[in-house]
Amino acid sequence: MKIIYPGSFDPITYGHLDIIERISKKFNKVYVAILNNKNKNSLFTIEERKKIILDSCKHLNNVEVVSFSGLLADFAKELDCNLIARGLREVSDYEKEVQMALMNKELYSDLETLFLVSNYKYSFLSSSLVKEIISFGGDIDKFVSPMAVQMMKEKYSE
Ligand code: PNS
Repeated sequence: MKIIYPGSFDPITYGHLDIIERISKKFNKVYVAILNNKNKNSLFTIEERKKIILDSCKHLNNVEVVSFSGLLADFAKELDCNLIARGLREVSDYEKEVQMALMNKELYSDLETLFLVSNYKYSFLSSSLVKEIISFGGDIDKFVSPMAVQMMKEKYSE
């Protein structure tokens, strides 16, 4: 059985990686799907995000990194995959995530969302916070991979 783990991954954090490692043990195939959102101000290009994810997932042989634009429900149909994985951190994630899961099911009735409770070690972690911390010169080694740290330092020194 296959599953899609969608997100912005700008960049992938250890919280995302924890979810990927967990689902890669339970499913034959994991598609890590990067949203190519042209309206959003992203730090990294899709290719850069893909490079960091591939590096972080090199120990997982059933993970494929893909990108999509448009609706996730349409992309899931394209991949012939009817299961989405999402991590739940704090209670504040719940409302938004349930709304998305219900809307996705409305758009593609066979599409289910599987929620995984985030590892408590990463329940406060988000890509946006990591970007804020490094932009003020803080240490982010505990939150993202060495490649992501390096690439973020380069971006913020530009
Ligand atoms: O990591 P993020 O930014 O929380 O991921 C959000 C994501 C990419 C899963 C969500 O924004 C999404 O699926 N966008 C694609 C457009 C879409 O399908 N919108 C309707 C969602 S119900």
